[in-house]
Amino acid sequence: MIEIRRLESSELRDHLDGLAAVLEDCVAGGASVSYMAPFSREDAVAAFEGFVADAERGGRLILAAFLGEEVVGTVQVVLTTPPNQPHRGDIAKLLVHRKARRQGLADRLMEHAEREALAEGRTLLVLDTVTGDDAERLYARRGWNQVGVIPGYALYPDGRLCDTTVFYKTLG
Ligand SMILES: CC(C)(COP(=O)(O)OP(=O)(O)OC[C@H]1O[C@@H](n2cnc3c(N)ncnc32)[C@H](O)[C@@H]1OP(=O)(O)O)[C@@H](O)C(=O)NCCC(=O)NCCS
Repeated sequence: MIEIRRLESSELRDHLDGLAAVLEDCVAGGASVSYMAPFSREDAVAAFEGFVADAERGGRLILAAFLGEEVVGTVQVVLTTPPNQPHRGDIAKLLVHRKARRQGLADRLMEHAEREALAEGRTLLVLDTVTGDDAERLYARRGWNQVGVIPGYALYPDGRLCDTTVFYKTLG
């Protein structure tokens, strides 16, 4: 039984290691999510320390999927936007541990993230993702609109270039 919920500020640091373990696993699996190989658990903890500090300041929401006590998936809603975009948010770091994939977890994480974003008054969400990877089909299935493809936007952890697809979704 998997539980998905937004982490409260007071509990974010309790789950730092679990969140980092999911990030480490995704990068080890070759996901292009900002980081290059080699990427250690310490690197992953350092990355999530930054996200958690921002969440504690109210700059983002961090959601997690739990299998029992273990974090097996996560997603973020970035709330820090310019003053003229108070209604917009960004989806970031949708990550599911390889051992928990293909059970609909990412779909449920996105459903929760969209609901939490709307509860924060964010009626327009934006994200980008590697063109042709699994997440791209998921966003299209969930009704996200494809804006376009930026060729050669980022690197996979092993250094290969990848294209990026930009999506948006209007809520409410
Ligand atoms: C992309 C990612 C988040 C998807 O996570 P996931 O939990 O496996 O996603 P879902 O289970 O919701 O959907 C994945 C597939 O499993 C299928 N699926 C869902 N439930 C299923 C079930 N019970 N039985 C069989 N298949 C199922 C879905 O239909 C989907 O199929 P398709 O995309 O081949 O058409 C995950 O692969 C990941 O973390 N990748 C690395 C990080 C990454 O790239 N993140 C995106 C950054 S933008």
